[in-house]
Amino acid sequence: MEHKKMKRKLAMVTGGSAGIGLEIARLLAQDQYDLLLVGASSRVFEAAESLAQYGTQVSALQADLSTEAGNQALLDAVKHSGRPLDVAVLNAGIAIGGAFIDNPLDRHLQLLALNITSPVRLTYGLLPDMIAQGGGKFLFVSSLSATTPTPYESVYGPSKAFLTSFANSIREELKEQGIQITTLHPGATATEFHARAGMQTTAFGDNSWKNSPELVAKQGYEALQAGKTNVVGGDETTQQAWVANRSMDEEEKARIHAERAMPNSPLQRGV
Ligand SMILES: NC(=O)c1ccc[n+]([C@@H]2O[C@H](COP(=O)([O-])OP(=O)(O)OC[C@H]3O[C@@H](n4cnc5c(N)ncnc54)[C@H](OP(=O)(O)O)[C@@H]3O)[C@@H](O)[C@H]2O)c1
Repeated sequence: MEHKKMKRKLAMVTGGSAGIGLEIARLLAQDQYDLLLVGASSRVFEAAESLAQYGTQVSALQADLSTEAGNQALLDAVKHSGRPLDVAVLNAGIAIGGAFIDNPLDRHLQLLALNITSPVRLTYGLLPDMIAQGGGKFLFVSSLSATTPTPYESVYGPSKAFLTSFANSIREELKEQGIQITTLHPGATATEFHARAGMQTTAFGDNSWKNSPELVAKQGYEALQAGKTNVVGGDETTQQAWVANRSMDEEEKARIHAERAMPNSPLQRGV
């Protein structure tokens, strides 16, 4: 039994306690990966318990990945597992709604620490062992927002633009070393994300029109397993927005996003 357990592959999911990360973790568990889930709050332990039904070994780590200590605790947990990490899903992220100048600088800096510094730290920390073991896979969870200015979430979109470009950059460097890097770009998804960002009075406050986290996770997971580089998470409208964003003026995209993300927005839907 123990022997069988050790033959399973190991995957790690940051932000694995809720939303898109939890659904990606579920797909990994269904495919018989052992899992290390990471979340900011103690509910990561409940999430780990809920995935035990798929019969794999699921462990949980509560760590604040916007801190150096939180990232180090995660790298230590992977090291102490004594096992090769096959899949790293770097998914944890936050947005902050409202005008840039109306939010405390510390919150903006915390967003940058979680959305940018953490994936850089984790990638840097995980790569040497992955290269030494002959390969591994990363799934970066970026956003459709990587392709547009995001007024009233003004630090969020740029943080995801960084992540997407970082992934596209290191993929080229690592392609001879067995490292696969897939980036998922979800459109608006019905999770707790926008409520946590304080965007309840915007068009993003209504979850009814958004993509389901199950769909977005499935698209990301299938792209990861198929070895794809970039994938858009969401329905046909979301896929079209990705294409349109490539050719539209930055000013026009900024105006459209502002209408949707502005507090007390007159729009009921983000379409
Ligand atoms: N929802 C969308 O519309 C959307 C669209 C495009 C891209 N995305 C991206 O998708 C990813 C997942 O978003 P989601 O919608 O699934 O969000 P979510 O439902 O709010 O879940 C966020 C997850 O990240 C964890 N987390 C938050 N802050 C953390 C911290 N400081 N340290 C460690 N973990 C932390 C949370 O843990 P706790 O629950 O314990 O706090 C939770 O597991 C994010 O990177 C987001 O930018 C989302």
